[in-house]
Amino acid sequence: MAKQVKRTTVTMDRSRPHQFTGDMLVLGLFQDASRLPTEFTQLDKAVAGAISNLLKLKDFTGKAHETALLYVSGKIAFKRIMLVGLGPKSKLQTDTLRQAAGTAVRTAQKLGIAKMGLALHQLALPKIAPDQAGQAITEGAIIARYDYQDYLPAQKDTQKEVPLMRAAIVEPNTSPANKLNRGRRIGTILAEGQNQARMVANKPGNEINPPTLARQAQKLARQFGLKCKVFDDRKLADMKMNAILAVGSGSATKPRLIMLEHPGRKGRKKAQAAPDVIVIGKAVTFDSGGISLKPSLNMEAMKFDKCGGCAVLGIMTAVAALKLPQRVLGLIPAVENKPSHTSYRPGDIIRTYSGKTVEVQNTDAEGRMILCDALAYAARMKPGAIIDMATLTGACVVALGHHHAGLFTNNDDLKRKIEKAAQLSSEQVWHMPSGDDYLELMKSKVADLKNIGGRAGGSCTAAAFLGEFAGDVPWAHIDIAGMADTNQEKPYRSIGATGFAVRLVLEYLRSL
Ligand code: BES
Ligand code: ZN
Ligand code: ZN
Repeated sequence: MAKQVKRTTVTMDRSRPHQFTGDMLVLGLFQDASRLPTEFTQLDKAVAGAISNLLKLKDFTGKAHETALLYVSGKIAFKRIMLVGLGPKSKLQTDTLRQAAGTAVRTAQKLGIAKMGLALHQLALPKIAPDQAGQAITEGAIIARYDYQDYLPAQKDTQKEVPLMRAAIVEPNTSPANKLNRGRRIGTILAEGQNQARMVANKPGNEINPPTLARQAQKLARQFGLKCKVFDDRKLADMKMNAILAVGSGSATKPRLIMLEHPGRKGRKKAQAAPDVIVIGKAVTFDSGGISLKPSLNMEAMKFDKCGGCAVLGIMTAVAALKLPQRVLGLIPAVENKPSHTSYRPGDIIRTYSGKTVEVQNTDAEGRMILCDALAYAARMKPGAIIDMATLTGACVVALGHHHAGLFTNNDDLKRKIEKAAQLSSEQVWHMPSGDDYLELMKSKVADLKNIGGRAGGSCTAAAFLGEFAGDVPWAHIDIAGMADTNQEKPYRSIGATGFAVRLVLEYLRSL
């Protein structure tokens, strides 16, 4: 029997905290509050002062991610209260709420809680607007629930494993409740889009290759009402997508270019209207390096080299669910980079889709090869903007570590909008330089360009290469090499694929 997927759904509950019915009520409290905030005094009374007693004993200090569990009785219809620390009030951010909700869900999961109430926003308002609070809490709760268990037996260590967990945001007052609810609806769509990206990205290379990735895309397109076109290797040859074909030539599983379309409002009137935005994601389903073979240490992590493409899948499903008015196109060049007797090799010169020629000096710099064809194809459609996401360079990880993605762009307005979206989503980006000085390093003696520039500024030279294929379309490149997967758990993030850039790009699209 297929394993049931663990899920959390977030709902609204318009009762007062002490009137909530369910298995557990969760309260968010700031650090070092000397007294119980008035928002919760009625609740405290209903449980005979159990919360204020605990605070007096200083058994709970409210540090970020700290939890305390109380078993309560009295005039209430739940048996447990969980306190979650929000950290110092002065450091409150939207992400504090995402993290608190994540902590609550992960702790509740161990207890086998089927229904819990969330009273996390009460103390965060009004510094955080109620709709943003509702969205962040929902995102944290839904993202925290997913972890990659496809190949593990159903968990036996707890008898109480609950596949469907319900988390209700508890707020009795109509005005904040309505706004929280609006945020909850958006947050559900964004978080499920992000989990969708993670579900595909976590799958290994023996399961996901270009054709099976294309099938996943077609399945999602049917489910969400997107148009989907898949160009196979024969079609790619007709189209002269020679860079995509070159990278994929070493593998038995042949390249695909996957195109997903959300028509938006314009599309209904005028099918041929230029897309408002095209999002492109690198999907190297496994990057061995090819003939320029990578060292074997950590090579298994190169199943995550498809994370840009998986982000596009998550983004497009959410774009459809949000019914955005814009016409949005998703493009996923998908290849497997393998060494074999049919591989492309160092020294090869490829006439790319744009007509520009590229000398291959390293077959491991394959991401820019497949992206250059997708970018040139996108630029021909004259969209309002192009955003590409790619696990492109190890150099970006050296430069920025695992806390910011690299943002490269030829357009200041796009830069500002993406930075604003980063703030809203807490998916951080750092603006990096590119342009002519870096492009100089990518010029070849035997072709228009070469595919590597040297060790210095490796993420900047890679971006300069890509910029040559975006033409004069406003374009941004997000290097997610340090962000796409993780070995470090966080309050709302398990190990493996993170789905980074899904919420970031969706906030950008929502801002248009
Ligand atoms: N997929 C890698 C980049 C990467 C490295 C992502 C580490 C995540 C973690 C990319 O295709 C690659 O191999 N890039 C080379 C480029 C070099 C040959 C110019 C790199 O970064 O070493
Ligand atoms: Zn590579
Ligand atoms: Zn790669």
